[in-house]
Amino acid sequence: MDTLRFDGRVALVTGAGGGLGREYALLFAERGAAIVVNDLGGDIKGGGKSQRAADKVVNEIRAKGGKAVANYDSVEDGEKLVKTALDHFGRIDILINNAGILRDRSFARTSDLDWDLVHRVHLRGAFQVTRAAWPHMKEQNYGRIIFTASAAGLYGNFGQANYSSAKLGLVGLSNTLAIEGMKYNINCNSIAPLAGSRLTQTVMTPEMVEALKPFYVAPVVVYLCHESCNENGEIIECGAGWYAKLRLQRSKGLVVRKKNVNFTPEEICRNWDIATDFSEPSYPSSIQDANMVMLQALEEYNQSEEPSSNNEETSGDGFNPSKAIGFQFPPATFSYTSRDAILYALGVGVSTSQTDHLKFLFELNDEFCVLPSYGVIPAQIASMGLFGSSIPGLEDIDVTKILHGEQYLELYRPLPSSGTLTSVATILDILDKGSGAVIVVGIETFDESKQLVAYNQFITFLVGAGHFGGKRNSDKIKQSFKTPSRAPDASVKQITTVDQAAIYRLSGDHNPLHIDPSFAAMGGFSQPILHGLCSFGYATRHVLKQYAGNDVSKFKAIKVRFSKPVLPGQTIQTNMWKQENRILIQCKVVETGDVVLSDGYIELTDVASVTTSPAESESYILKSEMIFNEMGKQMAQSPDLVGKVNGVFLYNITAGNKVAGQWTVVAKAPSGQVYKGEPKSGKADCTVTMADEDFFQLVTGSLNPQQAFMAGKLKVKGNIMLLQKAGKLFEQYAKL
Ligand code: NAI
Repeated sequence: MDTLRFDGRVALVTGAGGGLGREYALLFAERGAAIVVNDLGGDIKGGGKSQRAADKVVNEIRAKGGKAVANYDSVEDGEKLVKTALDHFGRIDILINNAGILRDRSFARTSDLDWDLVHRVHLRGAFQVTRAAWPHMKEQNYGRIIFTASAAGLYGNFGQANYSSAKLGLVGLSNTLAIEGMKYNINCNSIAPLAGSRLTQTVMTPEMVEALKPFYVAPVVVYLCHESCNENGEIIECGAGWYAKLRLQRSKGLVVRKKNVNFTPEEICRNWDIATDFSEPSYPSSIQDANMVMLQALEEYNQSEEPSSNNEETSGDGFNPSKAIGFQFPPATFSYTSRDAILYALGVGVSTSQTDHLKFLFELNDEFCVLPSYGVIPAQIASMGLFGSSIPGLEDIDVTKILHGEQYLELYRPLPSSGTLTSVATILDILDKGSGAVIVVGIETFDESKQLVAYNQFITFLVGAGHFGGKRNSDKIKQSFKTPSRAPDASVKQITTVDQAAIYRLSGDHNPLHIDPSFAAMGGFSQPILHGLCSFGYATRHVLKQYAGNDVSKFKAIKVRFSKPVLPGQTIQTNMWKQENRILIQCKVVETGDVVLSDGYIELTDVASVTTSPAESESYILKSEMIFNEMGKQMAQSPDLVGKVNGVFLYNITAGNKVAGQWTVVAKAPSGQVYKGEPKSGKADCTVTMADEDFFQLVTGSLNPQQAFMAGKLKVKGNIMLLQKAGKLFEQYAKL
């Protein structure tokens, strides 16, 4: 390949007195271009000015035999910069909009000056210089322009609201000029560089500054500005000698507005996960591309069926709701022993690490009792027939389309510690919710003396079975209560174990979705998910402990909505609001903030006057322990990955400012190893110190490593580049 030369070309590089700009100027000059080295020579916050910075670079270029001239104006005076190029070299071919300052502040503290100065230098400055150069480039039918964006703009960054908005503004400017300039052979591209410079040295370790030399960005910029390069309207991320193209990715999308569908916020909410699913993405690359889907939506709307005028139930041959309503399942008996009740308690997070575990885990304990939420188990087994083919009107339902939507359980007396229960399930109602059908099943459970022990209501959602002309609501459904907007009165956090679903399923729900990764993948999940009724058990326990002193006889009823799944290993947080004897509840996953149980409540017969403190959250093992254990297993199975990383890492995991756990990760071919403590031989290549929660967030993808590093949450000693490779070992968690 020929050397990429720039003889006869004139390049104007703004902010070229140091950092990245200087490297661009030197490399262009080395390859034959005449350079205007612009730099105001102020401080990083935009104060002061000096000719020294620009002069120094001009001298460097000239000393090597290159052609350069200095310009000391601010980019806000764009005309003057371009005039320097025209006066000295007679043309302008290349413009690198690079000058920049920082005035980082948290958003609340950002002053008008912080905002305006940053926008004036980055966005307005680039506009002024580019507008001055534009007619000349148009005239000569040639131009190459670079806009310097930033990862802060593309992804956001704490403390950089002013800077990130200006930087993303530059991407918009570049995108539009790429279109306007196309017919004049003017190509415009944005770069998002990463380099150690005076702007970043205060937030980078010396090792990072060394590894991220500005020079490692310059060849990318120089290539983009060569006449042989046809890239236009692209965003290029680059640093450390690496570069890549960035694009917009769009989720599948969905036309919800149809002639037979009410177009309401609720319909949007119901379809949210389908419309925002990224498993079949598209990559719109122009406004025409992007808007095309709206025309398709219109087309789909026009072709959608008119609402049916009669109330005929039309959703497929085997789906006939009117036949199914009122159907009673044959009575189902369910026998259990204290052993089963204990297994269930373990399944919903009772642990010997809790002071009050004996009454739920030890059958010889004086107070041994069964958790009230166990009352769903006999009923669930009785209603399993719903998923078979024996119910008239529901013969053809597709079990993979069934979602458990809501659950109600009421106990009339505490569950015996063992016995045989008989349950009778009835289909109470089937509702038409448009995008699906809601099936309401009521189940009465009796003990051996035919006393009613429990009443359950299972509400399932059958995706895609709607539009049969049925009613939308039913008075048979047990009421829900909205989660209050005020802060909760009490809150308990508890981490689930990675084996939680594997234990819970042994109580009766053997759906492979909760244990088999390939089955979970078919359902669109990155791993097997926890049973909704398992989280339901956690919520029951948390309320019982917080407001009833763990007295199971005080439990009356519970109702919840299942909103999202929990993944085994995540932390369930039960928020509680007391309203007399009714405790409103909402459960969230701490790691993601997702609400998993919503609009729920638990009724107690009597709320304990002295509430227990939610101390459980303090007695947990380090979350990191679970990650390192899993990582050890993964590494044993992935010698290739281990070979690629090739390093030894020591992780100091802190809790309350003390190192609470140490792990050594040996990722060296031919196989990897993870163990507790310091390296058994030699020294670690890299030592990482992080708080337990931060480490967990980092590996689960909710904390960005670079941000963690900059915020001082991730402390690294040794070979930092090697640590980036170690990220691969954690990748499976990032999908959580
Ligand atoms: P730098 O501070 O070394 O270079 C910026 C130069 O711009 C300085 O020499 C400064 O005197 C000059 N300048 C500031 N205001 C000016 C004005 N009004 N008129 C003319 N010159 C002016 O910093 P660095 O890192 O080389 O930054 C270059 C560009 O790259 C900036 O736009 C920055 O925001 C961007 N960037 C840098 C990243 C990095 O990791 N270093 C990351 C993302 C973006």
